[in-house]
Amino acid sequence: MKVLILQGSPRANGNTAWMAEEYKKAAEAAGHQVTLVNVSKKKIAGCLACEYCHNKGNGACIQKDDMQEVYPLMAEAEVLVLAAPIYYFTLCAQIQAPIQRMYCVNAPAKVKRMALLISSYSPGVYDGALAEFRDICNYWKVENMGAVTAKLDEQKTEETRQKVIALAATTLKAGE
Ligand SMILES: Cc1cc2nc3c(=O)[nH]c(=O)nc-3n(C[C@H](O)[C@H](O)[C@H](O)COP(=O)(O)O)c2cc1C
Repeated sequence: MKVLILQGSPRANGNTAWMAEEYKKAAEAAGHQVTLVNVSKKKIAGCLACEYCHNKGNGACIQKDDMQEVYPLMAEAEVLVLAAPIYYFTLCAQIQAPIQRMYCVNAPAKVKRMALLISSYSPGVYDGALAEFRDICNYWKVENMGAVTAKLDEQKTEETRQKVIALAATTLKAGE
């Protein structure tokens, strides 16, 4: 399967990046084609709500920023993994921007399943992120394969690695 991982943390060696990399390794070991994009290093602005895409643009966004690199990857992905730290009780802005820029095409065309990787400092801060993720999966009519969360004492641990590997295995069920 074609797997796209959008990683939103600006910390290249941080906890979210580690989880995304572990997911990638597990998916590649199982023979899947994985593209991992650190969207925090890209210039991706928020949606302008100009409606160009739904009028003259015929599905194309008027903003010619780095989201133009992400659109074709989104169009081809069958599995989409979002990896983000919690910032102020929700998914970080760097991951919100590319999601909201999908407004022009509404939903990624081929994505069947989505999974979420989140890191945070504190426990019990995931309600907003999990609700948003659930609602996006429902809106895009894709299967919500669940999330792995890692608070401070769970970061870069073997237990979390195993949870990420298990999530990759269920998300990328063989033969489906
Ligand atoms: C702007 C900002 C806001 C944050 N807000 C929260 C928060 O609301 N709750 C929390 O538990 N941690 C919060 N954190 C901490 C990060 O979620 C946590 O350190 C996470 O592990 C960072 O992931 P990273 O290592 O991938 O960058 C915040 C960090 C930053 C920089």
